[in-house]
Amino acid sequence: MFLYDVHEAANLLIQGKVVAIPTETVYGLAAHGYQAKAIREIYTLKNRPLINPLILHYSSLETIQKDVRWTSSAQVLAKAFWPGPLTLVLEQSSSCSVPKEATAGLSSLAVRVPSHPIVLDLLKACSMPLAAPSANPSGCLSPTTSHHVRTFFKGPILEGGPCLHGLESTIIDCRQAPRLLRPGAIPLQDIETVLGMSILSYGTSDQPQAPGALSGHYAPQKPLRLNAREVHSHEGLLAFGPPLEGAYCCIQLSLEGNLTQAAAKLFSALHSLDESSCESIAVMPIPYEGIGIAINDRLSRAAYGSVTVSR
Ligand code: TXA
Ligand code: MG
Repeated sequence: MFLYDVHEAANLLIQGKVVAIPTETVYGLAAHGYQAKAIREIYTLKNRPLINPLILHYSSLETIQKDVRWTSSAQVLAKAFWPGPLTLVLEQSSSCSVPKEATAGLSSLAVRVPSHPIVLDLLKACSMPLAAPSANPSGCLSPTTSHHVRTFFKGPILEGGPCLHGLESTIIDCRQAPRLLRPGAIPLQDIETVLGMSILSYGTSDQPQAPGALSGHYAPQKPLRLNAREVHSHEGLLAFGPPLEGAYCCIQLSLEGNLTQAAAKLFSALHSLDESSCESIAVMPIPYEGIGIAINDRLSRAAYGSVTVSR
């Protein structure tokens, strides 16, 4: 069932139902952020490991105050980037109402205020936060249209059009010195500029990264080959810039080499190549700069475990 009315979606969520929702990054599978039973349903639907905590979505910075302990870096980043595709990890407050089902039993909480106007209206209509992971089966490609969600989720979907950014939020752990847990829609450089300091990236410290940032995530069904400089006739090509010749089929991320445009199309293009009759997917090189870092992060996870098809 597709929904076009935020109040209808809000009523279902308040009753403890799971509803797929649009955001400016990817579609989410949402439940009442304070209801353990509704949250458990998300894990079941996604077949998501219980050790992988969820992001809580709020309508404003003020509505988050009760649930977390603020730090100065978090306040600076929230003021600069919210509403928008930035998730902050903070310590839960003693008055936090989020059940342990959403946080995998951790003492921290991941929070964000999304900027998609429909989801902001929805959050205001709900008067409670929404726990929402991306609306895909665990480990698979993220959905950037309601059609992608429909292929796996048969419940209610609030229609919000194609997602603006097409890549998940950037996650920063702000409990102590800010640390990048997941590259995403906001380039790390922009965050460092606002903070006036360089920040540690995941993988460069001995602390664990986001529990869900596993290799072998965001994976299409077909094998994926990265940094292709030539292409074979059985491969579907994901092109960036003037395409290589000889592919079975081709989807262009950005002919003029625009990384923002490429990010917005990435998951959608991978979904299409997965549905096409090519045997495997070859991806042209994408520069490691700005949002290109997050694009390469998703692609390298998508390619993890792929066996290169040689014929
Ligand atoms: O853009 C997004 O962030 C989308 C939209 C729907 O908001 N959501 C999303 O959720 O990408 P999900 O569940 O697919 O990814 C959330 C990531 C996971 O890697 C999870 O491990 C991490 O956030 N995470 C959640 N809570 C955390 C916490 N307390 N500490 C560290 N990482 C956390
Ligand atoms: Mg996800």
